[in-house]
Amino acid sequence: MDRIRIRGGRPLSGEIAIGGAKNAALPLMAAGLLTADRLVLSNVPRLADIQTMSALLAQHGVAVDPVGNAGRMLSIGGAITNTEAPYDIVRKMRASVLVLGPLLARVGEARVSLPGGCAIGTRPVDLHLKGLEQMGARFDLNAGYIDGRIDGRLRGAKIVFPFVSVGATENLLMAASLADGRTVLANAAREPEIGDLAACLVAMGARIEGIGTDTLTIEGVDRLHGADHAIIPDRIETGSYACAAAISGGSVFLRGARLDHLGATVRILRDAGVDIGEEPDGLMVRRLNGLHGADVMTEPYPGFPTDMQAQYMALMSVAEGASMVTETIFENRFMHVPELNRMGARINVHGTSAIVRGVPSLSGAPVMATDLRASLSLILAGLAAKGETVVNRVYHLDRGYEAVEQKLAACGADIERIGG
Ligand code: EPZ
Repeated sequence: MDRIRIRGGRPLSGEIAIGGAKNAALPLMAAGLLTADRLVLSNVPRLADIQTMSALLAQHGVAVDPVGNAGRMLSIGGAITNTEAPYDIVRKMRASVLVLGPLLARVGEARVSLPGGCAIGTRPVDLHLKGLEQMGARFDLNAGYIDGRIDGRLRGAKIVFPFVSVGATENLLMAASLADGRTVLANAAREPEIGDLAACLVAMGARIEGIGTDTLTIEGVDRLHGADHAIIPDRIETGSYACAAAISGGSVFLRGARLDHLGATVRILRDAGVDIGEEPDGLMVRRLNGLHGADVMTEPYPGFPTDMQAQYMALMSVAEGASMVTETIFENRFMHVPELNRMGARINVHGTSAIVRGVPSLSGAPVMATDLRASLSLILAGLAAKGETVVNRVYHLDRGYEAVEQKLAACGADIERIGG
C-alpha cells in the first residue's frame, strides 16, 4: 500500500497546472448514457475515480475510449446493454448513483446498488429517488439494490429540494433532459460543476433555463445528440494548492485556475492572510506575512465548500490565533483532526464545530489518511512540519488528486511516494 513521505520546511515556489474538475467529470461521463451518439470530453483528469466510472459505463455497454492527448480526452458512446450498476463498483465510488437518472431516462429501467455510507457520512440518496418518483419512476429495494422502472417515459415535474444536494440536482437534471414535458428543479445546487453539466447537456440538445441559479427549468426533448465538451478546472484542487502555497510560506502560480469558481474560498483565504492575485491564465497565490485565524462554516456554493474544510483546518493549525471551523454538510468530516493533533496541532471538536488554536510549528509524524480531502490536509501539514511525515493509505488521495507528489516536488517540496 503506497505511502507518501514529506520532509517539511521548504517554501513552495513555481507553477502547478490545475486539472479538470473530478466532480464535473463524473456526472459528465454519466451524461454519456443519455445518447447513442458519441460524447467527447476533454481536459479529463487522470484519477482513480475516472477509471471506476469508465468501468461502470463499460459494463453498461457504453465504451469509454481515450482519444489521444495522453488520456485527457475520452470518447463515450454505445448502446446500453445492461442496466445494472453492481455493488462492487458502486461501493468504491458513490458517484456511481449518477447513472440512475440517465438509465431511467434512456431505457426506462435501472438496477443500481445502494451506495452505502462512506467515511464522511451515511450519504443517503432519498432526494434522488423522491425526485425521480415525482417524474413517474417506481422503485423497490431488493437485496441492497434499488430496482427502478418507468412505464413509458419520465414525465416533467416541479421538484422542490428540501435542502441542497449536488448529486440529486445532477441526477434529476439529466433525467429531466429526456423527460416528457417541463421539469422545474427548485432549491437546486449551484456548484460550478452543475453549470458545467448543464452547459454540456445544452450542447447535446437539451433545453435548460436558469443555469447558475437555484431554479433550473428543463423542457424535455425526445433525444440528445453527441457533443464535444471541455471540463472546467478543478476548484477544489485550486483551493488545496493555494493552501499548500500559503502553509509553506511560498508563492505558486496555479495555471488554469478560475477565481470566479472559488466562491467564498477567496474571501476566507484572504481574511486568513493569503494573497491571491488573478492573472490572465491562472492565479498567483503567496503568503506575504503571517497567517491569522479566520472562522469558517461550510455551506453549499457559493459558500465555503465542505471539500475544502480539511485543507483549511491544516492551514489554520499554524495560523496566529484561533479559528472556528464548522461543518454543516456532512456528519463525520473531522477524521483528519486526530491525525493533525498527532503532528502537534491543537484542535478540539465540539459537535459540528472544531476550535483550532494555532501553534508556531507542527512536527512530522506517521499519520493515516481516512478520506480524500483529509489525505491532502495531512500532506499540507507535512509541508509545514519540522521533520518527516509519512501519510499512509494514500489510495484515498489518488481518487481525486492527480500526481500530487510530482506537482509539489516541481515547486521544491521534499516529497516522494514510497511503495509497499
Ligand atoms: C458531491 O457529493 C461531491 N461529490 C462531494 O465531493 C461534495 O462534498 C458534496 O457534493 C457537497 O458539495 C461529487 O460531486 C462526486 P450532496 P454528493 O448530495 O452529491 C445529504 C469530494 O471530496 N443528502 O450535495 O453526494 C448528504 O448526505 C466529494 O470530492 C441526503 O440526505 O453530496 C450530505 O449530508 C466528497 N439525501 C448533504 O445532503 C440525498 O438524497 C449534501 O450531499 C442526497 C444527499
